[in-house]
Amino acid sequence: MDSSLFKKDILTASQFTKKDVERVVAVTRSMRDIVDKDGSTDILKGNIMTALFYEPSSRTFGSFVAAMQRLGGGFIPLQGVVYSSVAKGESLPDTVRTFASFSDCIVLRHPQVGAAVTAADATAKPVINAGDGPGEHPTQALLDFFTIMDHFGSVDGLTITLVGDLLNGRTVHSLITLLSLFSPKAIHLVSPEVLKMTRDHLEGPKKSGIKVIEHEALDDVLGETDVLYATRVQKERFTDLDVYEKVKYSYIITPDIMKKSKKTAILMHPFPRLGEIDGAVDADPRALYLRAQIPNGMYVRMALLALVLKEDISV
Ligand code: NCD
Repeated sequence: MDSSLFKKDILTASQFTKKDVERVVAVTRSMRDIVDKDGSTDILKGNIMTALFYEPSSRTFGSFVAAMQRLGGGFIPLQGVVYSSVAKGESLPDTVRTFASFSDCIVLRHPQVGAAVTAADATAKPVINAGDGPGEHPTQALLDFFTIMDHFGSVDGLTITLVGDLLNGRTVHSLITLLSLFSPKAIHLVSPEVLKMTRDHLEGPKKSGIKVIEHEALDDVLGETDVLYATRVQKERFTDLDVYEKVKYSYIITPDIMKKSKKTAILMHPFPRLGEIDGAVDADPRALYLRAQIPNGMYVRMALLALVLKEDISV
């Protein structure tokens, strides 16, 4: 039953079927129950994950490591590759081949789009893309999707608004693709003109016939939005910092914005936030980033590691 992700790479949200996503959601719920009840399990006893991170990370790195340990497995932490042979100029395929011989899967974060594919080509062991530059972040999209499902029970019929840096923000690239496997009512994309999502990421909704509407003003859509997903303007991707300075505070979610939003709406953000959400909003029960999204990250990564590394996980 679990064979669809067993031994597979997880490189892009576009590789998933609706059934895959539903299975991840179901296993994530079981993982949450296991953690709530027992704290850990030994499903992956004897397995080792390499966490190979060429870019900064707190939540993704920490949640993958915690996930592996709660499943009874071990890990090799390669964060800040300045201390490894990468600093001597070693190629990505050589580093990947080396750690693939020590471990059962590689979780890779890298500044270049397509790096996860390069890594996957270098080894038969599963590679999980934990963010490739401004490309994709499929595991974040799964935890975002899980958070929406867990809150509303379904994505179908919802109006979802993605706001901020839709050009460089990899989480929204993967999320819009996942959402397209289901039937949201509409997806609104709110960004300054220079940070619009590129057309390739709109293939998913186009194929599924989901209405996508682009805006510059957040106020235009607040009244109908069920899921408001804010993102950080990705300073590290700008070649011209003057442009960054002009757009960095284009949208700030304040208590006033929340007042104009639906009572039943939810507010999400992949974090880190750099001023996009006023701290005064944190106490609003609709703000799910701290209370649901971040903890869900660990449960989703437990589910993914189990599905990729074990043929039948019977949970
Ligand atoms: C995101 C990322 O790295 O793409 N962070 C994360 O993994 N939660 C979002 C961001 O850095 O803005």
